[in-house]
Amino acid sequence: MKIGPYRLSSPVYVAPMAGVTDAPFRKIAREFGAGLACTEMISSEALVRGHRESFRLMDLGWDDRPVSVQLMGGDANVMAEAARMVADAGADIVDINMGCPVPKVVKTSGGSSLLRDPDRACRVATAVVEAVSIPVTVKIRLGWDFASRNYLEMATRLEATGIQGLAVHGRTRSQRYDPWADWRAIAEVKAAVSIPVAGSGDLRTPSEALQRKLESGVDAVMLGRGILGNLWLVRQTVALLNEGETVADLGWADQVALVRRHCDLVVAYYGPERGSRLLRKFIAWGLHGFRGAARLRSMVQSVSTPDDIDRVLGEALAIDPGARIPEGELAETAASCEAA
Ligand SMILES: Cc1cc2nc3c(=O)[nH]c(=O)nc-3n(C[C@H](O)[C@H](O)[C@H](O)COP(=O)(O)O)c2cc1C
Repeated sequence: MKIGPYRLSSPVYVAPMAGVTDAPFRKIAREFGAGLACTEMISSEALVRGHRESFRLMDLGWDDRPVSVQLMGGDANVMAEAARMVADAGADIVDINMGCPVPKVVKTSGGSSLLRDPDRACRVATAVVEAVSIPVTVKIRLGWDFASRNYLEMATRLEATGIQGLAVHGRTRSQRYDPWADWRAIAEVKAAVSIPVAGSGDLRTPSEALQRKLESGVDAVMLGRGILGNLWLVRQTVALLNEGETVADLGWADQVALVRRHCDLVVAYYGPERGSRLLRKFIAWGLHGFRGAARLRSMVQSVSTPDDIDRVLGEALAIDPGARIPEGELAETAASCEAA
């Protein structure tokens, strides 16, 4: 499949996730074959004001190409200026967030609040399309709430602004991350537009991703909470969708080795102090769902140096973990999502 001029190596995207899809996370996902990765959302206002951390969020030095940078905001002029900065920083695609449900984002007229104001949403998209020569894409939810599900209006009107791709998270803003995503609605969007559509919501196994893709007709699937602590799902999904191959789950030692690689990259990227703190949640997610992992996860809460990481991962290798129970991550990850 293609987004603008870019032919993607697989129809498997890494969903943008605040506090998660940073440079080390995207690097591993791309090594496992993801066709497209996106930064976490960046506030256009903060970027235009020169906020240092926002510049770090669009550091693309470790990324495979193409890579997408996601902007959030409801002011067309500010979004256009921020998009120019994103293009100058070397992004291949700029994505506009029209789905974030977090109150502090909604208050600024950005994220999912744009679903309540399609005129404003189109002004924002038009301004960004006109500001840059790289492709612009948009990520939406199905609407603000059930009574105002306007995904078909949003999709067709946004397509008319000149955007070159759409991602649809199959829930309304009111639904946040629960209950299940509505893939029939995603299929309706796919049928209504001619630009590439990616579907997002509840993809936890390669076979679910394949089934959803076939049933809905979407061009690509987005992996979100399913890859928290389980980046191997990217490899498995790419193998199934690209080659029809089934790749086995990782055994415990390989899972610990993957957590170790992630730790090494995070420490190299952020430095030992900040990196070790940021890694707590990733280690906890990576070890989640195995017998004996609960005790390890409580050790993880006090990790603050690379030596602490070595200790936890050394202990991890010493336990007999049994098989992984993938359920149970939902509540935890949804909670972190709200915090994001
Ligand atoms: C921790 C977390 C952070 C997220 N941050 C973003 C974000 O920055 N931008 C965005 O468009 N969506 C964000 N999302 C939504 C995801 O991209 C995805 O659409 C959603 O989680 C549904 O997919 P899933 O059910 O596979 O998790 C976030 C989700 C989670 C769990």
